[in-house]
Amino acid sequence: MTALSHIPGDDDLATPSDALVFFGATGDLAYKKIFPALQAMVLRRNLDIPIIGVGRSDWTLEQLLNRARESVKSFYPSATDEDFAKLAKLLRYVDADYQKAETFDQLRSELGAAKRPIHYLAIPPSVFPTVIEGLGRSKCAQNARVIVEKPFGRDLASSRSLNRIIHAVFNEADIFRIDHYLGKEAVQNLVFFRFGNTFLEPIWNRHYVKSVQITMAEKFGVAGRGKLYEETGTIRDVIQNHLLQIVGFLAMEPPASTYADSLRDEQVKVFRMIRPLNPDNLVRGQFKGYRREKDVHPSSQVETYAAVRLFVDSWRWEGVPFFIRAGKCLHSTVTEVMVELKRPPIAKFFPNQGNYFRFRLNPQVTIGIGARIKHPGEAWNGQTTELTAVKPQDSDEMDPYERLLGDAMDGEGILFTREDAVEAAWQIVQPVLGNQTPVFEYEPGSWGPREADVLVEDFGDWHTPAE
Ligand code: BG6
Repeated sequence: MTALSHIPGDDDLATPSDALVFFGATGDLAYKKIFPALQAMVLRRNLDIPIIGVGRSDWTLEQLLNRARESVKSFYPSATDEDFAKLAKLLRYVDADYQKAETFDQLRSELGAAKRPIHYLAIPPSVFPTVIEGLGRSKCAQNARVIVEKPFGRDLASSRSLNRIIHAVFNEADIFRIDHYLGKEAVQNLVFFRFGNTFLEPIWNRHYVKSVQITMAEKFGVAGRGKLYEETGTIRDVIQNHLLQIVGFLAMEPPASTYADSLRDEQVKVFRMIRPLNPDNLVRGQFKGYRREKDVHPSSQVETYAAVRLFVDSWRWEGVPFFIRAGKCLHSTVTEVMVELKRPPIAKFFPNQGNYFRFRLNPQVTIGIGARIKHPGEAWNGQTTELTAVKPQDSDEMDPYERLLGDAMDGEGILFTREDAVEAAWQIVQPVLGNQTPVFEYEPGSWGPREADVLVEDFGDWHTPAE
């Protein structure tokens, strides 16, 4: 987010990176997200620095180029052969054994004269420590930045230990922890809508807001990722990170200034004020058929759905519940936030719900304001109408990965999760990690287990996003 700036004088923080190393170059994330993002950067910001892919697949540069070409064809179809050639000429490849010092020596020599390289770890968390230590020992980390993919640890203790390992080699200002939700237009738009509209601030608090609901539904299942899912589950996969970030943006105080870290300061304050979850505020579910997925244990207790009730113990939000539900194999793929307002005192005007702000974040970005109006006719009856703003699809819109890689290369940290935030977010979910509560089965194609209704019952029903 370039509109917000570094502290003047922090020149080294803003020096653009002059080489990109990405570990995991032969993997799935590279194929689906990183090559297309790099292609976009070549075209949009004339990216022209060495890009060194590192993988453990016994590949040659030619194989990497073929893979990159296929990826760009599939995920950035508007790129021409000429466009791809511009990316291809930047690519190098190092075939790695992370245990061996030679891997990092070779990398050091590929880096040549680079003075501010950036290393992107798109690799399984289990190999982070080895790679980070290898980078440190070989001097590849000298004056370098590092981008770390999610998940950042698997609980509070492991995220703290990972932070210690990284800090032994990199400065916090040079560490970029990815949560790709922070790179999404729709998520950034929440911040803009909140702080860019004067009419919102007077009512954005416990006096006027009754409850907040966030639904992140995915129609698809674990899509061949059974092994990974068995180690994560919904709470670790999307609640500890993506969805808490959304809560943070909805609940935060206005950033004190446009200094970049003020937004992250406010975000972390919210995380610290969220009461850690207890089993009474959680309902877990598992879709029927999950246990038959490849690499899933036949009596797995891992959740593919979770619903939680959170409270932000702040002056602004005291007593207002924030409900989150997320899951796989649900009715449709949609992410939506519903902020319901309290009803006015005369029930005649307002017999039911109907006064709200609705933010659809996916697939189509929409903001709806639910308002009560008079139903035409003799009787003095009301009806709900919605003032809806639909953001036109922008074919030129940046993918989150393009934005985040570009920001990290520029040393712009605002869209990345800071050490204190990642730990505060783990602190919230820590008490309920580890299959401690029952897991209820639900039908694929439904909205999850009925048992989750109990969480919201004092405040109405779960809001069902429209098709
Ligand atoms: C990832 C999760 O971080 O986010 C996936 O691991 C999830 O399970 C994905 O499907 C959702 O991202 P998006 O951008 O498709 O909403």
